[in-house]
Amino acid sequence: LQRALVLGIETSCDETGIGIVRGTELLANVIASSMDEHARYGGVVPEIAARAHLEALTPTIEEALRVAGVRLADLDAVAVTSGPGLAGALMVGVGAAKALAVATGKPFYAVNHLVGHVGADLLNHEPLVGEGELELPTIALLVSGGHTSLLLVRDLVSDVELLGETIDDAAGEAFDKVARLLGLPYPGGPEIDRAAAAGDPTAIRFPRGLTAPKDLERHRYDFSFSGLKTAVARHVEAAVAAGEPVPVADVAASFREAVVDVLLTKALAACRDLGVPRLLLGGGVVANRRLREAAVERCADAGVALRIPPLSLCTDNGAMIASLAAQLIAAGHPPSSLGVGADSTLP
Ligand code: KG4
Ligand code: ZN
Repeated sequence: LQRALVLGIETSCDETGIGIVRGTELLANVIASSMDEHARYGGVVPEIAARAHLEALTPTIEEALRVAGVRLADLDAVAVTSGPGLAGALMVGVGAAKALAVATGKPFYAVNHLVGHVGADLLNHEPLVGEGELELPTIALLVSGGHTSLLLVRDLVSDVELLGETIDDAAGEAFDKVARLLGLPYPGGPEIDRAAAAGDPTAIRFPRGLTAPKDLERHRYDFSFSGLKTAVARHVEAAVAAGEPVPVADVAASFREAVVDVLLTKALAACRDLGVPRLLLGGGVVANRRLREAAVERCADAGVALRIPPLSLCTDNGAMIASLAAQLIAAGHPPSSLGVGADSTLP
């Protein structure tokens, strides 16, 4: 089936995402977020996320079917993120997908969230940056509140290699934590982006994690943001101890520059080392203006073709899950067993 009609369910974090695709054609991408409910805790609370998914799932599925103009009976398959992510949140989505598959007699596909982020790009016929269709192999840099991963994608269905990932905080998580240090609300990424616009990115030279020669041996494609976060905390403490105002704009701009620099340095090193002149960005942190701007400049300098999907496909969504399942079906993959459960630590 080359153009399977698939409904995809994504509940790995705080977004209840329902997408419907026909092959690489996007028919619906509906998202209900519980972000507001987490804001007062300064981060995603797993229990709240799971409960919010339970409440949002049915209306969101109904809305997606309405937008796509299809009925459950028309579907060729039901797909879901089985991991990685928050265990309780994943369980809600996996349970719902299985129930839907059993009730409608449709095949059930459990897919990997990170590979799903790459699958989103197949629906990306009008990229924010780049042109034409996704070409493989590509290096993919996925940056969100939950992950910071560098992948080598030779084939979406059969050959995705994890080159490296964060060994502590995810990039988005670092934005959220530093925003909190600066007294900015959650989610911190957009706040830092805004504050940084008035700051000097060269004001403070913050550390670039895992870029020292000795670290590069073992962690060439891995990331670390906890040292950077600590350096920001020290800087803020020093200003407070000296009775000076915290230079929020300069700290935000210098911090953002450090994160963007490390992300792109490592991604472009992978492109160069592996001889793959293509880079795909995904994940919520792609909303960062400096990241996009620097990626455009540095990829042009390096002769690397850059692709950035529209932001609605970068952040967590169900369409990317449906898209990946449609590829699996086109490649003749059998459905997943209904015995497959949520796996929060899926590699
Ligand atoms: O992909 P996403 O919507 O959800 C997951 O975390 O899976 O990403 C949300 C993350 C949050 O950590 C948020 O602070 C960050 O993306 N983010 C940003 C920006 N907008 C959102 N980080 C930096 N700059 C931004 N403009
Ligand atoms: Zn994600």
